Amino acid sequence: MSRMESWPEPIIRVQELSESGIKEIPEHFVKLPADRPCFIETTSHVDNIPLIDLENLKSFDESIRVETMELISKACREWGFFQVVNHGVSHELVAYVRGVWREFFHLPLEEKHKLANSPVTYEGYGSRLGVVKGAKLDWCDYFFLHYLPQLLKDEDKWPNLPISCRQIIAEYGQQLVNLCERLTKILSINLGLNEDYLHKKFGGDNERGACLRVNFYPKCPQPDLTLGLSPHSDPGGLTLVLPDTDVTGLQVRRGDDWMTVKPAPNAFIVNIGDQIQVLSNAIYKSVEHRVIVNSAKERVSLAFFYNPGGNILIKPADELVTEDQPALYSPMTFNEYRACIRTKGPCGKSLVESLKSPR
Ligand code: OGA
Ligand code: NI
Repeated sequence: MSRMESWPEPIIRVQELSESGIKEIPEHFVKLPADRPCFIETTSHVDNIPLIDLENLKSFDESIRVETMELISKACREWGFFQVVNHGVSHELVAYVRGVWREFFHLPLEEKHKLANSPVTYEGYGSRLGVVKGAKLDWCDYFFLHYLPQLLKDEDKWPNLPISCRQIIAEYGQQLVNLCERLTKILSINLGLNEDYLHKKFGGDNERGACLRVNFYPKCPQPDLTLGLSPHSDPGGLTLVLPDTDVTGLQVRRGDDWMTVKPAPNAFIVNIGDQIQVLSNAIYKSVEHRVIVNSAKERVSLAFFYNPGGNILIKPADELVTEDQPALYSPMTFNEYRACIRTKGPCGKSLVESLKSPR
């Protein structure tokens, strides 16, 4: 694949467009009628993704521990999504990191431009997904950075305004890595594998990856014509989303419907990515999701991605491949997989599906 040094078209900062006071959104952001959000809630308003209290895994009562493990297992198989509370990440740190990122996006444009990203690494301040000329754009700006592997971590590419934010961003990453380690153990056990199975398959302490995408969805004058983030499944291992405290927007696919996630106070939203779908031989589902926007309030969310090392071949676990359930996917490295996604942009679940080995 050729490596593009700069974006094929001029970048449009969505925040700038939003703040210019336009009443109609540019053509580039108008989705085809079939892809537009539907604001009439159907049956789904009573539904929500499962809520798991991780403290219950420390209960003295064995039946509570077993039941909690079972709830997580069911969520991974049937929803691909759940939310966790009592997750061990400091609430104070979470509040602080939210504030830091909101402040960053409200810095003058010149400040943010100093950290503008390119299609080479995607690190930094960015405003579009995919590199196809003429593609429909999403109503979102973002900031992308790496935590792991250590080799990719470059704090010089992180915001340094507001003051002391690098230290807070680093601490947040550390605590989320710890939570992901705990979750991958739980998932491994629930799959009937050794508790360190996923940790090892991700490349262990030295090779596993972790990165952060901070999404900024500005107010939109015509929210019914566009999306903050087009339907996609997350390409990596496991995602932890810190949602906005007072604006919803994330929607998860349930059959033909889109269900709006209602975050619990102090919760993280957890979702299975394509690599765990592959490793679990599709026992666990990486489910499509998207983000809607609104005209009243901006929304900030932090998506933390916990991934296998880029050069490790990912394939279904031998233990989960049987005569009845043959391997559904051919081996592929996460780097190869991610390169495909970045060229095509968000495109629902088509990529992991297209990788299914011929039967
Ligand atoms: C993502 C994502 C959800 C959100 O960044 O991949 O799905 O609520 N974000 O912003
Ligand atoms: Ni996502």
